[in-house]
Amino acid sequence: MANDLHVYDKPPEGANADWTIPQNWDAFTAAEHKMWDRLFARQSEMLPGRAADAFLRGLDVLKLSKPGIPDYCELNQRLMRATGWQVVAVPGLVPDEVFFDHLANRRFPAGNFIRQPEQLDYLQEPDVFHDVFGHVPMLADPVFADYMVAYGKGGLRSLGFDALDHLARLYWYTVEFGLIQQADGLRIYGAGIVSSYGESIFALEDNSPNRIKFDLLRVMRTRYRIDDFQQNYFVIGSLDELLRTTAETDFAPLYGQLEHLPDIAIADILDDDKLLHRGTQAYALNKA
Ligand code: PHE
Ligand code: FE
Repeated sequence: MANDLHVYDKPPEGANADWTIPQNWDAFTAAEHKMWDRLFARQSEMLPGRAADAFLRGLDVLKLSKPGIPDYCELNQRLMRATGWQVVAVPGLVPDEVFFDHLANRRFPAGNFIRQPEQLDYLQEPDVFHDVFGHVPMLADPVFADYMVAYGKGGLRSLGFDALDHLARLYWYTVEFGLIQQADGLRIYGAGIVSSYGESIFALEDNSPNRIKFDLLRVMRTRYRIDDFQQNYFVIGSLDELLRTTAETDFAPLYGQLEHLPDIAIADILDDDKLLHRGTQAYALNKA
């Protein structure tokens, strides 16, 4: 969301007023379905012991009657039964207001293309593998499903506060790149991580990135990068905690405070951070 790659200002030719398009499942080629299966097999094999319990439970929703890119008719029946959510196809990134409105109504907009073989490991624009494999399992969890609805409503509300950048960071550091502390260890649940082989290992096991206990205001002040592995990950204690500290908090006073607080540079550590791991930043420094 909210990155400015391929954002149009009105629905393109053939799209509905809410920017959705028919999934047109039959139009995917055999090679595209194979690409899904290859990515699916690789991730499902490496995620046990790394992904959050909620994600691994939700993965079952994606095990459909035929292989390949999920047919949304079948997928949505299962997802609707679990949490009332559905997946809708969109041509690419949609404007913020449209995106928030879909979330507020339990519709997750998914890109309708799949990456090319040379983009196996990193792409900046969400494809159907990221959007569906990465996001749908967590949407099958009742608590996370409610968080995403609250986020959509909060997004619509934020438009009246000029607070979009701050709210986008919350999405980034939870929905896309969140870590969770389970009783049996640290786990990943962010869609940007679980849909990436390299980042699934990096986020948990590499010494480079900071791992910091989640703090709402701190997160909303922290810059992020969209071009490579993250330099910070924020760790929630539980999905209930995430829902409580966001949905049950009125953000209006926070937005007021944030206007006067400086952004936090990407790898900076603050005195009152609760650090689980102080990153060496070796990975980012090596590339610079
Ligand atoms: N409670 C927030 C508000 O008052 C909305 C929100 C909920 C934002 C959940 C993010 C996640 O605006
Ligand atoms: Fe995403």
